[in-house]
Amino acid sequence: MEEKKYARTLVTTALPYANGPVHIGHLAGVYVPADIYVRYLRLKGEDVIMIGGSDEHGVPITIKAQKEGVTPQDIVDRYHKLIKDSMEGLGISFDIYGRTTSETHRKTASEFFKTLYDKGEFIEKTSKQFYDEEADQWLADRYITGTCPHCGNEGAYGDQCEACGTSLNATDLINPRSAITGNVPVLKETKHWYMPLDKWEPRLRKWILEEHKEWKTNVYGQCKSWLDAGLQPRAVTRDLDWGIPVPIEGAEGKVLYVWFDAPIGYISNTIDLLPETWEKYWKAEDTRIIHFIGKDNIVFHCLIFPAMLMAEGSYQLPDNVPANEFLNLEDGKISTSRNWAVWLHEYLEDFPGKQDVLRYVLTANAPETKDNNFTWKDFQDRNNNELVAILGNFVNRAIVLTNKYFDGVIPEARELTDYDRATIEEFKGVKDELGKALDTFHFRAALAEAMKLARIGNKYLADTEPWKLAKTDMARVETIMNIALQITANLAIAFEPFLPFSAEKLRKMINLDNADWNKLGSIDILKAGSRVEKPVLLFEKIDDETINNRMERLERIKQENILKNFTPKAVAETVSFDDFQKLDIRVGKVVACEKVKKADKLLKLTINDGMKGRTIVSGIAKYYQPEELVGKEVCFIANFAPRTLKGIESQGMILSAEDADGRLVVIGPHGEVRPGVQVG
Ligand code: MF3
Ligand code: ZN
Repeated sequence: MEEKKYARTLVTTALPYANGPVHIGHLAGVYVPADIYVRYLRLKGEDVIMIGGSDEHGVPITIKAQKEGVTPQDIVDRYHKLIKDSMEGLGISFDIYGRTTSETHRKTASEFFKTLYDKGEFIEKTSKQFYDEEADQWLADRYITGTCPHCGNEGAYGDQCEACGTSLNATDLINPRSAITGNVPVLKETKHWYMPLDKWEPRLRKWILEEHKEWKTNVYGQCKSWLDAGLQPRAVTRDLDWGIPVPIEGAEGKVLYVWFDAPIGYISNTIDLLPETWEKYWKAEDTRIIHFIGKDNIVFHCLIFPAMLMAEGSYQLPDNVPANEFLNLEDGKISTSRNWAVWLHEYLEDFPGKQDVLRYVLTANAPETKDNNFTWKDFQDRNNNELVAILGNFVNRAIVLTNKYFDGVIPEARELTDYDRATIEEFKGVKDELGKALDTFHFRAALAEAMKLARIGNKYLADTEPWKLAKTDMARVETIMNIALQITANLAIAFEPFLPFSAEKLRKMINLDNADWNKLGSIDILKAGSRVEKPVLLFEKIDDETINNRMERLERIKQENILKNFTPKAVAETVSFDDFQKLDIRVGKVVACEKVKKADKLLKLTINDGMKGRTIVSGIAKYYQPEELVGKEVCFIANFAPRTLKGIESQGMILSAEDADGRLVVIGPHGEVRPGVQVG
C-alpha cells in the first residue's frame, strides 16, 4: 500500500465516561500508546495535536448520580477533574483535555445534528419503549432489569446480560422491572431519529475492507463481521433529561444519543484548542487522523461516526483506528463495580515518582493483539530486572565513571577497536527499527527495540571493563567512556516517548538540551569537552513487601466481592422431625487418608466410627492434601446405601460446605466428641 503524504496528524483518544476514575485498562489500551505515538511525532518535529476529554453525557452518568443521590453535573465535575489531573500526573501529554458539557461542544454537536437533519439524512420512526409511570420517566435500557431469556439470570439489564454476555433489547427480558421504582414498566410510543446505516454500508465496506487492509487484524475483523451481518438504522436520539437537547421542533424532552455527541467531542475540543485553524485538522486532505480506542469502541469509530461524517460531507475519515484488546488484572476482568482495578490516581499517590514504571509495564504488556494480563509480580520483575538492572544500571555506570575518571568532562573518542565498531554497528539501525514499529502502532516491539539499545550499552561496559583499564590505559578508557556516553544520549532520545520523566532526568544529567530524533543511532550527539552532571538514580528496586501488600489488598477485595455476591438458596420444603431422624448423621475421626488413583477429585478416607471402622470416598481432593485431614473429626451420613467408586466401596458421605471461593470445606464438631456419636 502506498504511503499517503500528510502534513499534519490529528490524534484522538477515546473520551472516558466521567463516572469513575481511570484505571490501568484504560491506560494500556488507549492513553499510554497514544501518548507514545504523539511524543514520537513531536520528537520528529511533525505537526501533531492530541485531543482528549471527558464523555459527560449518557446513561452511565445518570445511573451513578442516582445511586449517590446527587446530580449528574456533580458526578461529571468530580470525575472530570480527577481524570484530568491523574492523566496529567502520568505525563499523558494532551494538547487539550476538554469536556462534552462545554458550551462549544453543545453548539458543535447541535449544529452537526441540525446539518444532517436539514440534509434529510435521518429517518423518523416511532417505536414502543418502556416507561415508568410512577417515576414519570422513560427507561433507558440500563434502567430495566429482568430475567435473561438465554441463561435465566434474574438480574439481566435491558441492554445486556452480564452473566452470559449476550446483548439484549429491553423487550427481550422476561418479567421486566424498572430499576427506579421496581414497578412493571409500560410500553409507550415514542418518536426518534435514526441514522440509516444501511445506506452507508456499501461505502463503509469499500472504505474499510478494500482501502484499509492495513488496519490491525482485530479491528479489520470486527468491522468485517459487522458489515457482513448487515447494518441497521440506529437511533441517534433518546428520551432522557441529561444530554444535549435535540435541536428541532417536536423533540422536547429528548436528547442526542451519547454515542452521537461524544465523538463530535473530538471536533469541539479541537475547536477549543485551535479556534482559528481547527478546520484544517479535520477537513484538509493532507491531514492524517488516528483514533486511539479500546475494542469495545470499534463499531462506533469505524462504522457509525464515519457514517455521520460521510453524511455531513465536509470531514475527512480516520486513516487508522489502532484499537487495543483488554487488559486483565491478576487474571480477572477489570471491573469498576467490583473494584477490581488499579486506579491511576491511587497509583500516583502510592508510588510517587514512579510514573515511568507503570508506563513501562503497561507498554511491555500492552494488549495489542489479544487480551493481556497485569500482575504485581510482573510489575516488580520488570522494574527490578529490566528498568533497574539494565537501563538504570547502564546509565548510572556511564555517569559515575565519567565523574570518577574525568571529573565529569566528556572525554574524546580516540582510536576505535573492532569491538567498538561492531557495537556501534549494532545500534546504528535503532532509529529505523524504532520508527518502523512506532509508525505501525507496534508499541511493545518499539519498547523492546529501545530496551535493546540499553542492553547493548550494558554489555559494552561489561565487556570492555573500563574500571580495570583505568590503571593502565587511560587513552582506551577515554574512548570507551565517550562511546558509553553517546549510547546514553541515544537512550535519552529513544526513551523519551515511552518514559518521559526518566528521559528528562537523563537529558539533564548529560546536558542534552533537546532530544532530536534525527540524531538517533549516531555517536556524535555529545561533544567531547562538555560536561555531565552528578548521577541521579533513574529507577530503584521495588521490594517484596510492597508487592505483597498489593496482592493482599486485591485478595481482600476478592473476598468482599464473593461475600457481596452471595445470596443463600431459598429454604427447602418443611419436613418433620421423623423425616430428619431418618438420616443417621454421625461424627467420625479420620484415621487415614489417601488419593484415589486415576481420579483427581477423589480422596479415600478411613474413618474411626466407634464400631469396626469404615471407608468413605469423597470428592474433595482438589481442596485438601490427604495428610491435612488425618486426625480431624468430621460429620458423615452413616446410613446411605454403599456405592462403589473407582473400585472402592464407599460407606457413607462426608458433609461439607462451599466456602467463598467455591471450595469445599469439611464440616465437623467444635468440641471433642466420641467417634460414632450421632448428630441431632
Ligand atoms: N465514553 C466511551 C467509553 O468509555 C468512549 C467514548 S469515545 C468517543 O466507552 F468517541 F465517544 F469520544
Ligand atoms: Zn444471560
